[in-house]
Amino acid sequence: MEISENVSLKPLNTFNIEARASLMVDCQSEDDVRQLPSVLGGGMRHFVLGGGSNVLFLNDFEGAIIRPLIGGIEVLEDDGDHAKVSVGAGVVWDDFVAWSVGHGLYGAENLSGIPGNAGASPVQNIGAYGVEAKDVIDSVRGVRLSSGEPFELRGGECAFGYRDSIFKRELRGDVVITRVVFRLSRVFRPRVEYGALRAAVEALGGISVANVRKAVVATRDSKLPDPKLLGNAGSFFKNPVVDAGVADAIAASRPDMPRYALADGLVKIPAGWLIEQSGWKGRSLGNAAVHDRQALVLVNKGGATAAEVVRLCEAVRADVKSIFGIELSPEVNFVGGA
Ligand code: EPU
Repeated sequence: MEISENVSLKPLNTFNIEARASLMVDCQSEDDVRQLPSVLGGGMRHFVLGGGSNVLFLNDFEGAIIRPLIGGIEVLEDDGDHAKVSVGAGVVWDDFVAWSVGHGLYGAENLSGIPGNAGASPVQNIGAYGVEAKDVIDSVRGVRLSSGEPFELRGGECAFGYRDSIFKRELRGDVVITRVVFRLSRVFRPRVEYGALRAAVEALGGISVANVRKAVVATRDSKLPDPKLLGNAGSFFKNPVVDAGVADAIAASRPDMPRYALADGLVKIPAGWLIEQSGWKGRSLGNAAVHDRQALVLVNKGGATAAEVVRLCEAVRADVKSIFGIELSPEVNFVGGA
């Protein structure tokens, strides 16, 4: 375990926002994580940071930033049909996806190119191009901070939803995930029905796992800004889920509105479309801007403060609300604040 004081969080969040943490606790092993309750001494404020690709630090963090840096990708079982693979929380997500594809293990390829670490994948049930982390998660292992005891939850016990899980709800603040066990298939079953993915994969020469990975990465690169060049945290908002009647009412005057039917008469509307139609795509407020190629992404044009990003977020929400009557919720975790 490595403990440092007064650490800059700027290089540790992809928004590239300046904030300092009074304490940083780096855990290299599950043993280190089990010692956290004594390090935190009961009530110390804390936040578990993965790759920093989905956070907005609102101000300096008075407390402990915990980093589970546990590595390792290990095949636990392989019956020739499916394999269970245990991945350390600190493994870079896309390194795991590349590893899986390289080892002929399928299921995660549509999630290529998502920034962040494996340990965060169950927390917000990362998803892209028709697949979510829950589709490949077998179980999640970690430590409860209140007791220092290890836990293991099966995928079905994690209350996975759209960018949601038990780790954002009942267990929020009380767990450090140390490893995620994925169940991958030896049989490649392409899932290319999302948007123009099939066409993009076929244009690469045919449907293969390598081409799915390539097409997903290329699609992402064409829309989503590289955080190394332009600070951002991916989708800033969730796509709102509304009753079909609400979507129908908007579609009556806007038949061009994209919509995805879900179960129970619910409809998901792309927030990127709502924001673009509200006139915000490419617009700035101070040093924060709505990305000009994907309106769901807010960017730091350089030197933006968290307050500027929040101001932009609120301005966008207010306009979408007044034009379409729909409330957008941030997908990014706001950390700190009053
Ligand atoms: N759209 C617009 N204008 C925009 C952006 C999008 O009209 O500026 C429309 C598109 O034309 C399309 C629809 O909205 O009809 C959906 O767009 P896209 O396929 O780009 O996906 P998204 O709904 O905007 C979601 C995820 C992304 C994920 C993509 C691909 C959320 C919050 N975001 O975005 O995830 O990569 O689908 O599956 O669900 C992330 O979570 O950080 C993230 C990047």
